[in-house]
Amino acid sequence: MANDAGIGGRDEPSRGADDHSALLSTLDSHDLATAVAPSETSDASVFDFDPQADPAETFPQSIASGGPTPTGVILWTRIAPDAFDAAASLAVQVATDAAFEDIVYSGVTDDDRRIRAHDHTVNVDLDGHLAPNQAYHYRFVYDGVASKTGQCQTLPRPDDSPDSLRLGVLACQNYQNGYYPALHHVAEEDVDFLVHVGDSIYESDDGHFSGPDTDEYDRETSFPSGHDRVQDLDDYRYLYRKYRSDEFYQEALESHTLIASWDDHEFVNDLYWDDRRDAPAGDHPRADDPAFMTDLVADAMHAWWEYMPARVEYDPNGDSLQERFRLWRSFAFGDLVTLVMTDERLFRDPPREAIPTVDNVGPQYEPPGRTMLGEQQREWLIDTITESTSTWTVWADEVLTVPLRLGSGPLSIYPVQGGWDGYTRERQRITESIGAADVDNYVTLTGDMHCYVAAYQQTSYPGRVSGGEGVARGDRIGVEFMTPAVTSLNIAEALRLTRGWRGRLTEPLLTWLVTAMNPHIDFFDSHNWGYSVVEFTRDDCTYVGYAVDKTVNSPDADRSVVTAYRVPEGAVELEDVTDEYRE
Ligand SMILES: [Fe+2]
Repeated sequence: MANDAGIGGRDEPSRGADDHSALLSTLDSHDLATAVAPSETSDASVFDFDPQADPAETFPQSIASGGPTPTGVILWTRIAPDAFDAAASLAVQVATDAAFEDIVYSGVTDDDRRIRAHDHTVNVDLDGHLAPNQAYHYRFVYDGVASKTGQCQTLPRPDDSPDSLRLGVLACQNYQNGYYPALHHVAEEDVDFLVHVGDSIYESDDGHFSGPDTDEYDRETSFPSGHDRVQDLDDYRYLYRKYRSDEFYQEALESHTLIASWDDHEFVNDLYWDDRRDAPAGDHPRADDPAFMTDLVADAMHAWWEYMPARVEYDPNGDSLQERFRLWRSFAFGDLVTLVMTDERLFRDPPREAIPTVDNVGPQYEPPGRTMLGEQQREWLIDTITESTSTWTVWADEVLTVPLRLGSGPLSIYPVQGGWDGYTRERQRITESIGAADVDNYVTLTGDMHCYVAAYQQTSYPGRVSGGEGVARGDRIGVEFMTPAVTSLNIAEALRLTRGWRGRLTEPLLTWLVTAMNPHIDFFDSHNWGYSVVEFTRDDCTYVGYAVDKTVNSPDADRSVVTAYRVPEGAVELEDVTDEYRE
């Protein structure tokens, strides 16, 4: 990292009294970057509360859980600054029942300094305190007020053999581009965990990433900095507070335990690492200023850490941004599923500048070291996938795994350069390793494109995009299921094709076109928004992509099944089972 690109390298906008770099100098960095370990208390009065008190006044962003282990979870909340009292204790209770008659854990934290340092957010780590493979109810109590009651879930032990695992998969929830009734439906789903593959916030408040109908939504935002794009920690914190003020988003996080990743919009659009400047870069008005961008990305990861309950390694004093945060990690759901999470933003090389055609997209056109993951993470990913002994091996790959070609022959382009079509040499290295190791039952769960996709992953594909000249079709090594956006702008919306007769006409047409041009893609849709549920059992894996009407801010918003696929255990075979799931 350049000397002038440190955390204090920015000259504007000015930072307030809550500047976290100032706090860093007064707080031990270890304190700052680890969840709170609660302590026991003999003072039973801290658990007393007034049942009539409004939880939203004390806990305006409600509660959440994440970072599951076989013996715990991280519980999250935020205390309203107006309700904050340095003398009060934050109490937490976990029970096996909703009435809290069978309380299995009680603890408190009194660290008012740390709570203030983190925008009044608290991550309480209960690792070591709970039993494996259990669903629990939990609540916080603060100054005589109880939070809502949430549900959380621990992992099975690594040597357990659960029969099934159901994941709700989420991506891309631009607050300004629609309402969140999809997240109300997610709250009501019978899933074990939520997996978020990124874009849980968008870093603009002027509708920059929104669609033509964004004015229809009553979703005003206004950054503390007064700018249209994020400038600093206060702006990122504002975004998380605003998004988490949504009742349906709160419901989803109250109801399920989160396994979170990030993509570019948690930072800035199209974020990548500029090796020449040893600093992050991307789509931001001040992207040419490496010191500013370094501080901005440091602020973004700090706010993410404060607001997303996640078990990650984070050292806010680390020299290099790339060494500060280790998002990549894996989860074992007994011997049924291994889930691998990756960081696809902090290490990625710049996007290519040329129009991506068949004459420049492909491993042979890329320099040998070109990377999305960075060498260390890539080798860890390959080792984790190829050494997995669980029935299903799942990579939460945030961006499109497989190639997507539009056009035919020499006139084809590969428009999704933010996905693996922009990093084909590294994709080839990963897919060939997985193919050579004969990994059974391999699945990627992706997002980013605001589409539904069901596709085959292959060792190579027609055309030259992933192999040498004349390769007809490689071996099928796994499948990809892309989850749609909750609300974010999709292709059809940008072209004003989603509504009325235009929608009815173009929806099947786009599906037909994309699948005809890409034989490895079995299903494609970019006309809807919602979420997906992916279930793994001993016999099969099933993906159901739901559409929920984002234009109404109501729990009664229509929900329908866009597509459903099943993959039998032991075979790489996409079976369209949509009819089974349509009511
Ligand atoms: Fe997105």
